[in-house]
Amino acid sequence: MKIRKAVIPAAGFGTRFLPASKAQPKEMLPIVDTPTIQYVMEEVENAGISDVLMIIGKGKRAIEEHFDRNFELESELAEKNRVEELNQIRRISEMCNIFFVYQKELNGLGDAVSYARSHVGDEPFVVLLGDTIIDTNNGNSITAEMIRVYEQHQAPVVLLEEVDPKKVSRYGIVGGKMLGNNIFEIDRLVEKPSVEEAPSNLAVAGRYILTPDIFECIDQTPRGKNDEIQLTDAMQLLLKRRRFYGLKLDGVRHDIGNKLDFIKTNILYALKRKDMGEDVRRFILETAERLKQ
Ligand code: G1P
Repeated sequence: MKIRKAVIPAAGFGTRFLPASKAQPKEMLPIVDTPTIQYVMEEVENAGISDVLMIIGKGKRAIEEHFDRNFELESELAEKNRVEELNQIRRISEMCNIFFVYQKELNGLGDAVSYARSHVGDEPFVVLLGDTIIDTNNGNSITAEMIRVYEQHQAPVVLLEEVDPKKVSRYGIVGGKMLGNNIFEIDRLVEKPSVEEAPSNLAVAGRYILTPDIFECIDQTPRGKNDEIQLTDAMQLLLKRRRFYGLKLDGVRHDIGNKLDFIKTNILYALKRKDMGEDVRRFILETAERLKQ
């Protein structure tokens, strides 16, 4: 079945990014001038997906407004003949069909995804964490690449990234074997294992293609790490019913909810921009030199 639907969980408190995330969703934190969640939406759009469900929580209205039309702003820009900005603003509200649902209590990623049940129906779907930007080395949408793996194997697929073996306890970690072409056959999934328990150093990296039977698995999943319903634990149940694959990332994952990653990503994207890259580069070099003295 063709994948047409995506789910973006964006309901968390963003406690790793306080105080900036106190009254503003971390998914709206900008990389240069564009909110993180807009990059995620672009990835979705470039994978040919038509419908997106965002799972949001308290204080997340800014996300709704960002993807809605803003007629006052549009007429102001039109009056001043600022055509480029006007087109940019209009494009955002025309991205995909976007739906919103509120997660009533923050009970973990598995619980958040369970709110997508009626939106998804009996179709396979993509899950994208709203605070994570993925840049592939070939420039393709990683969701598009994962959909190709799904179509080939007709089974769930998660994105995998090699992490420092000392940091496995921050992630969902998989076990299994590499089949070639960056495709990994998964036989185990563990959420935030200790270094000793971890079956590998391949971490689940914020992108999933799931089949609708994941919802029954979520229903059967007890609270796990951090007393939350973990998507990883539900996927471990799904693994007992189906083959399960991983696609190893050939590229970079930017976790915007992490302060250091946020700063690094901003610098990287600013350096790549035609309108400011050279100025930013000079500023960084001069500042680093000055601070050395
Ligand atoms: C979540 C998932 C984890 C995954 C990580 C990074 O953890 O539960 O399995 O590896 O995202 O994508 P969190 O960062 O919310 O603690």
